Amino acid sequence: MTSRLDGPLKVTGRAEYGADHAFPGLVHGYVVVSTIAHGEIEAVDVTAAKSAPGVLAVYTPFDPLELNTPSLPAFGETWVPLQDREVTHYGQPIGFVVAETFEQARDAAMLVEVDYRERPAATSLEEGLASAEAAPGTEDVEILAEGVESIADALAASSVVVEATYRTAPQHHAAMEPHSAVAVWEGGALTVYSGNQGSDLQATELAQALGVDVASVRAVNPFVGGAFGGKGRTSAPAFLAAAAARALGRPVKAALTREQVFTATAGRAATVQEIALGAAEDGTLVAVRHDSWCSTDANRSFVEPTTRGTSQEWYATPNLKATQRIVPLNLPPTTFMRAPGEAPGSFALESAMDELAVALGMDPIELRVRNSSIAPPGKDLQWSSKHLDECFQVGAQRFGWAQRSPRGRVDGDWLVGMGVATAMFPALRFPATVEVTLREDDTAVVSTSGADPGTGLLTVLALVGAESLAVPVERVTPRLGDSAFPPGGMSGGSTATASAGSALMVAASEVIDALLALASSPGAPFEGAEVSYEDGRVLAEDGRSMSFGEVLRAAGRESLSATGSSGPGEELTKHSFSSFGAQFCEVRVHRWTREVRVSRMLGVFDCGRIINEKAARSQAMGGMVWGLSAALHEVLEVDDSGRWANGDFAGYLVPVNADVGEIDAEFVRYPDTLHNAVGAKGLGEIGVVGVAAAVANAVYNATGIRVRHIPITIEDLL
Ligand code: MOS
Repeated sequence: MTSRLDGPLKVTGRAEYGADHAFPGLVHGYVVVSTIAHGEIEAVDVTAAKSAPGVLAVYTPFDPLELNTPSLPAFGETWVPLQDREVTHYGQPIGFVVAETFEQARDAAMLVEVDYRERPAATSLEEGLASAEAAPGTEDVEILAEGVESIADALAASSVVVEATYRTAPQHHAAMEPHSAVAVWEGGALTVYSGNQGSDLQATELAQALGVDVASVRAVNPFVGGAFGGKGRTSAPAFLAAAAARALGRPVKAALTREQVFTATAGRAATVQEIALGAAEDGTLVAVRHDSWCSTDANRSFVEPTTRGTSQEWYATPNLKATQRIVPLNLPPTTFMRAPGEAPGSFALESAMDELAVALGMDPIELRVRNSSIAPPGKDLQWSSKHLDECFQVGAQRFGWAQRSPRGRVDGDWLVGMGVATAMFPALRFPATVEVTLREDDTAVVSTSGADPGTGLLTVLALVGAESLAVPVERVTPRLGDSAFPPGGMSGGSTATASAGSALMVAASEVIDALLALASSPGAPFEGAEVSYEDGRVLAEDGRSMSFGEVLRAAGRESLSATGSSGPGEELTKHSFSSFGAQFCEVRVHRWTREVRVSRMLGVFDCGRIINEKAARSQAMGGMVWGLSAALHEVLEVDDSGRWANGDFAGYLVPVNADVGEIDAEFVRYPDTLHNAVGAKGLGEIGVVGVAAAVANAVYNATGIRVRHIPITIEDLL
């Protein structure tokens, strides 16, 4: 059992996050945000702010820091502040005040006077449904069996049909580390310290925004205080700090307040989803229809892909129709947020499956197992590996599912129910490059620019490095989070272990080849001999052996390096890839107060090979806690001015320890080397998938009340 290598640094405060960096002459920037939800900035009076103590500069759309709009294949266009006078949501960055101290900057920011020409703000998804738009980058999916005219006909011909509308709440990223940056220019080169999910991607976005060569920008983030999709794109403080540092010739630090994080960065869309399921008497699905509407920002910059799971991952069905629509609103932008698509999508689909099980009088696990797919709907490429049935079996056994009654049970004043749901999330990987360096002291260094936002990638690099070099893990030093290292892809989409791990295996094999060539080269200790590598040593046929450090010292070398790259390739033409899981939940609903307590949760996951048992279990449980949070706590409320009424930690509820009862996650272990050489499938996001449905299904089991929206509140159960 390996504990995360960066754990001691983090819990003792020695880990330096972006905003922890300090430099001589550092000055402080404070972001000014809009106080209307929609309109145009007519004028900004900066007279008082500019003459306030310590103020160096006040930037506004009338006196901006010039920034281009970056565009990366991974994200599309990333919005940059101050480039126009449009206000599209309350709390949008519209100014930047730089002063000698943080307090001076904050103080002066309060003196900035803004005149707006206000326009009506659209903030209701429900009201926008009638004028919903096609979702950019998505297409309606329709698969019909031969002779079937339409999905409506397929549903009409089904023995049992359930049809309902489900709603999920808008949420916002609220990672422990607020978005922040320290930017330093030195000799025409920029270094930015700012939490992100891929430092080479951040360096590229900053270079594009600033109009400079990417070689002159370095993004550094060895420690990230949580990301989950919210630090994929570069944030406003990083753009503003970098541009202001250039303009002022001083290092600049900028950090959002907790309240600003809720509006100046992006969150998760609200969704409305209509689902219809048609089944035969024995539970076999005949038809699935899933129509989804999600909120997005006025720039339509992100689509929450709610129907993707239904149309590309979930159940086998001969007839399927899925549509995705967007409703642009004057609310803060939406973005990737842990299991984008699958998290809200699974609430609807897995609630509907529970309703179907009730309608059929069938056990909900049996219904799911019966409809388990061997390939994505309508596709020929079978799953490379799928052990979902085993996840349900193992989980049912451990959770005591056999004791569940279709009507729950009563324990004193508590109504007790159990619920279950399927979890799925595609197994993906991105191109990545890793460098392995062997050193004369018999240690090795593994380097890649990828990020460890708390997921455990740093420790994974050490473990996979040690295994690939056949040396103890203590002799491997992993390094990441620096765009100066080889491009390591992104810690997003649950891809980092498969992406960086595979590249690391290639790099290790390359460096071993180079070591053997060096050892047997003219003048070297094994000149002309047949050599091989084992357990960190070079061996000759005659029985002689030397450690790699000894070989390097003999050759007068301090180190020997090689890089390896890996990315998705031919395997995509042979199989489909996904992680799978079974979520179990027990709730206790108080008979009189109607409060819901999640007393037990168990997730059993098929995520291929588990590299680090401890971190994997923590990651999965973290996702499950977030699912509980979605089910019972998290929702942003909009007030009449279009402002989040609860955009801070006082009003935005997240679970505390007392909200989480017994919780455990475990894995069925089937390495998937058809997917990648490491055999690992993603496990970063799947933990959250299905949990909200499992909670709602358990609430139904306990109370007989079907709640078709999250979060579920006391009022829903009166
Ligand atoms: Mo995650 S939403 O892929 O960062």
